[in-house]
Amino acid sequence: MKALVKKEPKLGIWLEDVPMPEVGLTDVLIKVTQAAICGTDLHMYKWDEWSQMHCQPPYIMGHEFVGVVAQVGNGVKNFKVGERVTAEGHIACGHCRNCRRGMAHVCEHTLSVGITRNGAFAEYVSIPESNVVKINQKISDDFASIMDPFGNATHTALSFPLLGEDVLITGAGLIGTMATGICRYAGAKNIVVTDLNDLRLDIAKKMGATLTVNARKGETIADAMAQLGIHGFDVGLEMSGSPIAFNDMVAHMYKGANIAQLGILPADTHVNWSDIIFNALTIKGITGRKMWETWYQMEQMLLGGLDLTPVITHHFAFEDFQKGFDVMTEGNCGKVILKL
Ligand SMILES: NC(=O)c1ccc[n+]([C@@H]2O[C@H](COP(=O)([O-])OP(=O)(O)OC[C@H]3O[C@@H](n4cnc5c(N)ncnc54)[C@H](O)[C@@H]3O)[C@@H](O)[C@H]2O)c1
Ligand SMILES: [Zn+2]
Ligand SMILES: [Zn+2]
Repeated sequence: MKALVKKEPKLGIWLEDVPMPEVGLTDVLIKVTQAAICGTDLHMYKWDEWSQMHCQPPYIMGHEFVGVVAQVGNGVKNFKVGERVTAEGHIACGHCRNCRRGMAHVCEHTLSVGITRNGAFAEYVSIPESNVVKINQKISDDFASIMDPFGNATHTALSFPLLGEDVLITGAGLIGTMATGICRYAGAKNIVVTDLNDLRLDIAKKMGATLTVNARKGETIADAMAQLGIHGFDVGLEMSGSPIAFNDMVAHMYKGANIAQLGILPADTHVNWSDIIFNALTIKGITGRKMWETWYQMEQMLLGGLDLTPVITHHFAFEDFQKGFDVMTEGNCGKVILKL
């Protein structure tokens, strides 16, 4: 089959002919119909410091996808050939202390599809039955193929109560813009979104932002607060991974407020601890998606009318993957989808 392989430890991704994946007793073989390029894929494509520490080529990349069941192992009980599915890309062990107490998103032994095992930038991907998810027929292929980052957005945004609250989102990337839609759906009062890129802030507006702040243009959160007549934000969703944005957020939270931290901050990020301590802030680290509460929430929001269309800006044929990675590198885009 054809697959996009991270073949060598340097910039790039390579279209190769590779053997079909093995289908174990409890595995589901999925014929991939669409796959989306994630920020993490871009890290691995560029072979940055994070990739060098966490990834071992060669492996097939890709973890955001939708497809159709092509074959099932003899032990598979819940899936049939022809069903439309996606998958939770974090494969938990099912046996560690956290898995056994319903916290599989913080499993001790997680394997990640498209990172630490072969992924879905391929004609076929093999996934354990435990991680395969059926897609309601009312949900489009485009939305089904971005459940993974939509799940990050959902897990982060719904970490704290939102109804009637003022929310600050730093970073209008793919996840920040989806989180904007989730906050609107969940009844937030004001939603202020910051970024450095107008195209992305325009997407945030379409997703329901009350005000946007382009920090690169000298716009400030303080000005947005003055316009809205508020003295701080009740909930912060940090989705940029930028120390500047994080500190800006901490400085503009209401006393007793909550922050959900998804953005991956550098280890040497300096923080004004006094603001956190004396304003009694709570900061919650977020990883992955809750299994499986986040998935139920995502399905219900999509069936309830949450429209993610504005976040998807590009479709390319699978063979034109390079165009997709170029658009992502340039950054003037929302989600980029490859069609097989
Ligand atoms: N914890 C997890 O499980 C998990 C999962 C997926 C992604 N992430 C991280 O979450 C973050 C968001 O992911 P994404 O895919 O949306 O990434 P992205 O790169 O699409 O979005 C990040 C956005 O932040 C903006 N930004 C950068 N500096 C800024 C600043 N100073 N102020 C405001 N905005 C700024 C960028 O312009 C960009 O639009 C990234 O840091 C990513 O690595 C974490
Ligand atoms: Zn992803
Ligand atoms: Zn486990």
